[in-house]
Amino acid sequence: NLRTRLRRPMLYPLSYEGGGQSDDGLRNSIGRPCGAACTIAGMADPLHLVAELLAPAFAQVAGESVDPVVRPSDRADAQANGALALAKSLGRSPRDVAVDVAAAADLAGVATLEVAGPGFLNVTFDDGFVAAQVAAVADDERLGVRPSSMPERVVVDYSAPNVAKEMHVGHLRTTVIGDSLVRLLHFVGHDVVRENHIGDWGTPFGMLIEHYLDGHADEYDPADPNAFYQAARTRFDGEPGFADRARHRVVLLQQGDLETRRLWQTMVDASAAYFDTVYRTMGVLLTPADLMGESAYDPLLAEVIERLRDGGLLQQSDGADVVFPPGFVNREGEPLPLIVQKRDGGFNYGTSDLACLIDRVERVGATLLLYVVGVEQSQHLAMVFEVARMAGWLQPPTRAVHVVFGGVLGDDRKRFRTRAGASVKLQDLLDEGVERAAAAIAERSDLPADEHAAIAHAVGIGAIKYADLSSDRVKDYVFDWDRMLAFDGNTAPYLQYAHARICSVFRRAEVDRTSVRATVPVLAEPAERALALALLQFDGAVQSAIEGYHPHKLCTYLFDLAQTFTAFYEACPVVKAERDVRASRLALCDVTARVLAQGLDLLGIEAPERM
Ligand code: ARG
Repeated sequence: NLRTRLRRPMLYPLSYEGGGQSDDGLRNSIGRPCGAACTIAGMADPLHLVAELLAPAFAQVAGESVDPVVRPSDRADAQANGALALAKSLGRSPRDVAVDVAAAADLAGVATLEVAGPGFLNVTFDDGFVAAQVAAVADDERLGVRPSSMPERVVVDYSAPNVAKEMHVGHLRTTVIGDSLVRLLHFVGHDVVRENHIGDWGTPFGMLIEHYLDGHADEYDPADPNAFYQAARTRFDGEPGFADRARHRVVLLQQGDLETRRLWQTMVDASAAYFDTVYRTMGVLLTPADLMGESAYDPLLAEVIERLRDGGLLQQSDGADVVFPPGFVNREGEPLPLIVQKRDGGFNYGTSDLACLIDRVERVGATLLLYVVGVEQSQHLAMVFEVARMAGWLQPPTRAVHVVFGGVLGDDRKRFRTRAGASVKLQDLLDEGVERAAAAIAERSDLPADEHAAIAHAVGIGAIKYADLSSDRVKDYVFDWDRMLAFDGNTAPYLQYAHARICSVFRRAEVDRTSVRATVPVLAEPAERALALALLQFDGAVQSAIEGYHPHKLCTYLFDLAQTFTAFYEACPVVKAERDVRASRLALCDVTARVLAQGLDLLGIEAPERM
């Protein structure tokens, strides 16, 4: 059984059963991964295409290949700025270089060029080209998003709450960002393996199990484990004999004593079931099969030490076995060690992360390891990665990336807390979001009341996720219910509403959505052209969100698209337009709705058809 195998990984042999873990569920929930049909020559981001078409002209003028530096522009549809740098290296006037490039370039049927300013090339796409590209996007189930040219197996380590500790607002970001990255990477064709590195091992479990065993089993509430934890802690600190029993229990646990393991498993299972209810509320892809907690790596820890010793990397420091990765120093400027085995023989968090890394590379076969973990663990992860590099476990092309994120703040700009100053339970936060959304929906929706609950869920959870994803993950953000639930501004409800509104256009027009997909739109009005161009940028937005693991870039794009659509909808009547114009505009509406829904789905957000 795969799950037991995964929970007890082996370093050797390294056979991996066909990526089963990454596939189940994921494929159903987010559609087919890309196949041959994905590639339509020349489709996708027109900026990308222009860069490709300009490259030979630049090469001709430069005598070698240079980047045309194609960027969006306010003055034209795009701008190629490569002549500026090239002129410098050729010692010529940038304008002259730009003129030569323009003369050498062949963009027939795609765009026209115009030399502007000190040496920019303004690019204006032909309307026919834009219309044909939109039709190609409409015909593509991936909406023009290019598949990765180098698909690989990627492990995404995210969420990772701790057993017998609360799941609180601190787990929001890792869960939401990690899930969006899983969806994005999968969408462009990577083989994504989700791993939930829960904290289910270590010395506190001795004290917890001992307390559990002493007639307190009923008090273990995985949804609210703080009181249980505190009670065990109090006894550990004060009750004579308890600490010794707890320490002995840790030894039994680590030696695999059956009864101890059974008690431990009961507590872990209860917590895992609880995590799963929270994940279901959130609508994230994590399932119990993705659990890969610290305990899974316990059988590998001794081997980690052996390998480090064989590699000559182990050193002694204060009686502990340590590795000194170069470049890490403490406050006094002394070399900082990663402790891998304590003086008493116990292993550390770092040891289990090293075992975990080996497992991901050697058993799972991943070449990209993403760790979606808070900024507090930056140094820890950097040291683990460096030791793994020294030991030869992490070698190019395989790489590990800490996908870092900042904190969730209250309006006082301190850590987000309840009014009473307690930490906010994640489930309570989600419930409150749905409740607030329900109030907003009840106020503005004229749908029958029995449809409200599902919409409120989509809007409430969507709002929370979007507020998190739309801010640059590296920064802190202020948690603000009113702002995230607003129906205008860069919010989930705004995007969801834009999507639902387009769906309602089709209902009013009594036209089947799929029937307009073969229509090549006519771009007569500036607002139609602007919308068409915005639709073609979906590919670029997805690629740049993936490139730096920055979901907010996709959010920014979707918000721009929704605004561009609103401007179009105000300027261009759809349902009332005469036949051909109506068909053309409905075609634009259809692609817009699909890009919005697909984009939201890549963020893990639902797009209801009515609101
Ligand atoms: N459970 C850990 C914590 O709550 C996070 C684990 C992150 N992943 C890892 N491979 N270290 O701090």
